[in-house]
Amino acid sequence: MALIKKFKIEDYKDQKTIVELKNISVFYNKRQILDNLNLKINKQEILGMLGPNGVGKSTIFNLITGLKDPNYGEIIIDGINSTSLPINERFTKFKLGLVPQYGGIIQELTLLDNLKLVAEIHIKEKDLREIKIEKIISQFEFQPLLNIKSKYLSGGQKKKLVIAMALVNDPKILLLDEPFAALDILTIKMLQEIIINLQSTEEISIVVCDHQARDLLNCVTRAIVLSNGRIIASGSPKEVISDRVAKSEYFGDEFNIN
Ligand SMILES: Nc1ncnc2c1ncn2[C@@H]1O[C@H](COP(=O)(O)OP(=O)(O)OP(=O)(O)O)[C@@H](O)[C@H]1O
Ligand SMILES: [Mg+2]
Repeated sequence: MALIKKFKIEDYKDQKTIVELKNISVFYNKRQILDNLNLKINKQEILGMLGPNGVGKSTIFNLITGLKDPNYGEIIIDGINSTSLPINERFTKFKLGLVPQYGGIIQELTLLDNLKLVAEIHIKEKDLREIKIEKIISQFEFQPLLNIKSKYLSGGQKKKLVIAMALVNDPKILLLDEPFAALDILTIKMLQEIIINLQSTEEISIVVCDHQARDLLNCVTRAIVLSNGRIIASGSPKEVISDRVAKSEYFGDEFNIN
């Protein structure tokens, strides 16, 4: 694998909002998870979400895709109130791509067949489908793994496959739930580079959450930190790590990035 240079992340601060969570509250069995949360995701930004286990990061992805309905509040996607829009309509209408925290592949199919399956769902023309699959195989260095049943892939190889599958339909809004978990150092670098290249070459908005805070903060344009159902800090990576509340509730005093 080639060595990867330091990334250059474009900042698109003034872009329009693509997803807005408005006054969102979520409860599970009377336990409040999100508390009147307001979050705007801008076009072409790479937004990083940080926060402790169980704070509601995956829940936010589920609200955007429609896997979870909020108890209160609205979800606006590309200017359209989508709060009641079914999952499949959201995926096709707004070109959502999701890398779920767990699962996302068919274990009994080979790596190649998993890729072909999503390509057949999203790309009608055979030639374009094949071009796309070839591009992904080379980008992710999948060649030696094509005919292995997915259940036999290593944890990191599975994760790479799920990420690759989310890119098949050229998503406009890409949601990555812990993409760095289980990946080795060079594969994390490769994924960071893919994320940043996507942002600079396509009109895409990316939301990524991960507990590898350093890896995450090195490839986002903006970050938010969640605690007790609310956003306690928002800003550039440097701004959030020096935020007093975020330090005391999430990062601690020692945390730093390059
Ligand atoms: N179906 C459910 N029924 C009851 N509680 C749930 C359900 N789904 C999620 N929760 C609770 O909602 C909270 C938020 O969960 P969520 O998965 O969004 O957290 P998270 O921030 O993604 O955590 P992690 O970093 O561990 O992945 C947790 O306390 C979880 O136990
Ligand atoms: Mg989660």
